Amino acid sequence: MPSSAPPPPRTGLKAVPSSAPPPPQWWRDAVIYQIYPRSFADADGDGMGDLPGITSHLGDLVDLGVDAVWLSPFYPSPQNDAGYDVADYRDVDPRFGSLADADKMINEAHALGLKVIIDLVPNHTSSEHPWFQAALAAGPGSSERDRYIFRDEPPNGWRSTFGGSAWTQVDDGQWYLHLFDVTQPDLDWDNPEVRAEFVAVLRFWLDRGVDGFRVDVAHGLVKDRDLADWEYPESSGPWIVPPDDRRPPMWDQDGVHEIYREWRQVLDEYDDRILVAEAWVQPLERLAHYVRPDEMHQAFNFEYLFAGWTAADQRAVIEKSLAANDAVGAVTTWVLSNHDVSRHSSRLGLTPPNGRRSGIGPSDPQPDSAVGLRRARAATLQMLALPGSAYLYQGEELGLPEHTTIPDEFRQDPAWFRSNHADYGRDGCRVPIPWEADSPSYGFGPSDKSWLPQPPVWAEYALDRQRDVPGSTYEMYRSALRLRKEHGLGVRTLDWQPVEGDVLAFRTGDVLVLTNLGAEPVELPVGATVLLSSEPLDGGGRVPTDVTVWAQV
Ligand code: NOJ
Repeated sequence: MPSSAPPPPRTGLKAVPSSAPPPPQWWRDAVIYQIYPRSFADADGDGMGDLPGITSHLGDLVDLGVDAVWLSPFYPSPQNDAGYDVADYRDVDPRFGSLADADKMINEAHALGLKVIIDLVPNHTSSEHPWFQAALAAGPGSSERDRYIFRDEPPNGWRSTFGGSAWTQVDDGQWYLHLFDVTQPDLDWDNPEVRAEFVAVLRFWLDRGVDGFRVDVAHGLVKDRDLADWEYPESSGPWIVPPDDRRPPMWDQDGVHEIYREWRQVLDEYDDRILVAEAWVQPLERLAHYVRPDEMHQAFNFEYLFAGWTAADQRAVIEKSLAANDAVGAVTTWVLSNHDVSRHSSRLGLTPPNGRRSGIGPSDPQPDSAVGLRRARAATLQMLALPGSAYLYQGEELGLPEHTTIPDEFRQDPAWFRSNHADYGRDGCRVPIPWEADSPSYGFGPSDKSWLPQPPVWAEYALDRQRDVPGSTYEMYRSALRLRKEHGLGVRTLDWQPVEGDVLAFRTGDVLVLTNLGAEPVELPVGATVLLSSEPLDGGGRVPTDVTVWAQV
């Protein structure tokens, strides 16, 4: 297997003289690979992935060609929301390893030339966090309760994102706010102690060498002071800010930006570290507020992820994304899958494509896996040619589908429980990934244990069945990442090309990118040399339906 030569490590405190050129800003065009620690690789065979498992596979990610990894939370946690319920922000859950394992993982990643982004969960703690335990013990009116949002009566009808009320009563009669699970009490960000604590947590991990933070629920920290009631629009549900002028009192309040300005100053004391917003905010112009020059560096572009599978929809979201970010001087990010949405190889196999965000279960219409994978490969090649930074979710390079038929008794997502089993939740995209077709747990770990059951089709998707196999999804990703670097696609300007029908075409640097979303095959320009194609061209050298081609003309 060829592997790229590791570039020198690029970490350490800033020590450059002021006349030196500005740092390279690695994140502007980086391809960042999301690792979901529970499901990436299990070194000790307990059925739950861990940090030593991650460290042992970092070389595979270098082979793949990514620039950085982002790890979902690995902190001590009761795991009621798969680790997004943090009980201690400065340690590692024994299920995932130890602080020493985290240091080792960070150092080995750096030695291989990979940056490391970790997840920060500031909107809420776990109910097992010492602060919440102290708040319960200290009682109403105490300074311990002031770190959270306690009231004598629920002041509004806010809903939990996972279903049910966002207010829960404790034994002494008071109620506390939790925008997610009952075990995830929301912090009160008007409290200076809360602010100081998270600055200290940032420094704790920055000093250990991490290259950045993905900030969970970045649009939720500050609530409207009056905790005003809110009429949830039918179309958006409790989680998403609607694309109109109304600001829900729990999301996207102007006050959040002050927090990120303070954090940015902290990060700027170090070299080239980044903040990435997970902010479910619409429209894109509003999302761009999070990446103004003195705030975060990137924000996930979920509007792109959910765009319709037509040339018009794709072009519109790409144009809007670039324009909104250009207006604030920020880099645009692109993403098609993550641990909260159904995998794009399945979403795009639905009718209509992308017609559902998550929670595909056995009683739902099933995605067409062949059509879905074909479109997913085309979508990926389009995404990896776009200027800016792209996020990949573990397993998408294998073309993994959503596991839509997990037996109910294995489900763990709180959304499944809090919706009284109406929402299948997100477990289907979180199944441990296959490395070796013929090993127990498909090479996820040394035993046959896996915290969510792996479907038998995993064998055909395993890495060892795809490596060095021309045309495999894995080799397509590898070629795309190599060519993206060689042609500098992440830093180019996009130049739309005139086309007819349901076709998207743009030039970026010396590469023509063409996606055929229509029913009929499309001709390439005369003399075009194909660099990479998501599927073979037809016998006449034309681009078939649901295919993206990178070509030089
Ligand atoms: C967003 C995370 O991505 C999701 O997995 C989690 O459930 C919520 N935030 C709450 O932390």
